Amino acid sequence: MSKPLISSRSEGLTGSARVPGDKSISHRALMFGALAVGESRVEGLLEGDDVLRTASAMRALGAEVERLEDGTWRLFGRGVGGLMEPADVLDLGNAGTGARLLMGLVATHPFTTIFTGDASLRSRPMKRVSEPLTRMGARFFTRDGGRLPCAVVGTSSPVPITYELPVASAQVKSAILLAGLNTPGATTVIEKEATRDHTELMLRNFGASVDVEHLDDGRRAITVTGFPELTGRHVVVPSDPSSAAFPVVAAVLVPGSHVVLPGIGMNPLRTGLFQTLREMGADIHFDNPREEGGEPVADLIIKHSLLRGVDVPAGRAPSMIDEYPVLAVAASFAMGTTRMFGLSELRVKESDRFAAVMRGLIACGVKVEEDGDTMIVHGNGGPPPGGGTIAVNLDHRIAMSFLVMGMASQAPVAVDDGEAMETSFPGFADMMNGLGAKISAV
Ligand code: S3P
Repeated sequence: MSKPLISSRSEGLTGSARVPGDKSISHRALMFGALAVGESRVEGLLEGDDVLRTASAMRALGAEVERLEDGTWRLFGRGVGGLMEPADVLDLGNAGTGARLLMGLVATHPFTTIFTGDASLRSRPMKRVSEPLTRMGARFFTRDGGRLPCAVVGTSSPVPITYELPVASAQVKSAILLAGLNTPGATTVIEKEATRDHTELMLRNFGASVDVEHLDDGRRAITVTGFPELTGRHVVVPSDPSSAAFPVVAAVLVPGSHVVLPGIGMNPLRTGLFQTLREMGADIHFDNPREEGGEPVADLIIKHSLLRGVDVPAGRAPSMIDEYPVLAVAASFAMGTTRMFGLSELRVKESDRFAAVMRGLIACGVKVEEDGDTMIVHGNGGPPPGGGTIAVNLDHRIAMSFLVMGMASQAPVAVDDGEAMETSFPGFADMMNGLGAKISAV
């Protein structure tokens, strides 16, 4: 059921709010807990639809996964190599991370797993994972174009590989490393541009040997050694910087705002948006920096600021790939032009986000241009007209980005489906309204 929402100009946003747990880390915590021997506990798990699908999938693969009354999740894993053939199709809903990482896991187990998802996930490219996993010995039967539904016939005699990533993708890197867990010897992934390293950090924390070598030409070689003994752990999930992006940009754009967001993940491979917003003139302060559960976190203090356009280099894309839609919204309020380079991966997310952002901004009276993989937003030097109705196309981040726009644009902005936000940010509208936003049902 779609749920149309409209967001209207608000007074200053004020107060403190807790952003839900990190989606990337939550998926991994469930998967690694399901592979570890003994009990794992996960605190602060994101209970959005994407992650709940992964929880169900891990149960279907034989792990014990339960939510305790206090909101902690408890798992009893099966040990590396101990997953069991699921009795039914695994439906990962909207979750690209869930689907791709699980494909890696099951590729080196000797049974067959069938994957499907919603219309968005069924349209996303899977060859990027099936190609390297086939080299390791698995067989994939996909729809045309390598799309879901797909059957993965895992191999009983996996072969370790060294694989250079053709695209900067933490999902592909992770899928291969996870397949390498149940493979003899060393499985190596080489990346030209560093992508989020939650898999590496958490695998080490669970007891695996993960070696990262910095090559002379700037590339990184990440090697996992097969058959590690993973043991149950206590994982504390930080608040998701990609979800914090929405209240952060909202507070920057709405005059009179002063918002505090405690415990936000500050992994340097995730903070490109905050860096860019600061370069644009945003008043964002990182208070009380500390480490929690092996990841850096800080409390964010954000105040309304006037922005200027900047150039965002292609090399920064992996550290803020999910944040371009909301950055483009911020850029539409800025003085001057913002050019965002190297956005090819934006076209294969939950929707074609490049096209969705361009269409949405145009519908809200903003001048935008496309030049290959570069998006150019001509800032309005203040609130843009707004007034558009945005087609969400099962893309949570498109919905949240344009609801943020409506909080400060001249006329309200509507989205045709607020339900999509449940995948990563349950309660987004209530949380933002608690800070002073005006989001309501149409
Ligand atoms: C993710 C990696 C990114 C990101 C996604 C989460 C992960 O995808 O867009 O939301 O948890 O590894 P790619 O690996 O396709 O860039």
